[in-house]
Amino acid sequence: MNVYKCRICGDPYVGNTKPSNCPFCGAPAKYIILAENWVESAVPELTEVSRKNLEASLKLEIENTQYYRCAADSSKDPMAQAMFKALSRVEAEHSAKVCKLLNHTKVEIEDDPRACLGVTDEERLKEALRREQSAVKFYTSAAASAKEAPVKEFFDALVEVESDHISLSNLGLGLPVEVA
Ligand SMILES: [Fe+2]
Ligand SMILES: [Fe+2]
Repeated sequence: MNVYKCRICGDPYVGNTKPSNCPFCGAPAKYIILAENWVESAVPELTEVSRKNLEASLKLEIENTQYYRCAADSSKDPMAQAMFKALSRVEAEHSAKVCKLLNHTKVEIEDDPRACLGVTDEERLKEALRREQSAVKFYTSAAASAKEAPVKEFFDALVEVESDHISLSNLGLGLPVEVA
């Protein structure tokens, strides 16, 4: 057995092999390293632009956590419930990492039963797709303007993770899974 750590969220994982994605924040395998190679990195001094983008990211991740929790509670289908629950956890992990980069204490995310309005799973998936497309657009531009290496790496990883969420929503909607 090995102990691994994710460079994006910092969480440890125990297993025989590296997972394909971090089980906590969804970052792809290239960000997962053996814990013995872990080097604790200091929170960087933030530029005004990165601070603003991280604050917007915190809002986005909290709202998406609440959205997916609500969607999981509203759906009657076990497969959709599982998917929405898993996504709510990943988005909550993203918000926790943003708090670290902003030097905030971790935000406790409250349940919001009004966070999702769709009546059917198809409507809930379409709203998920809209949210993930908007997240990818936002993180792509945030990564391009980030000057601090750890912040840029975080935004780059989120582009990949939220793109995977687009694929997942497309799959649920029976659409092609490729991301444009
Ligand atoms: Fe996210
Ligand atoms: Fe997402």
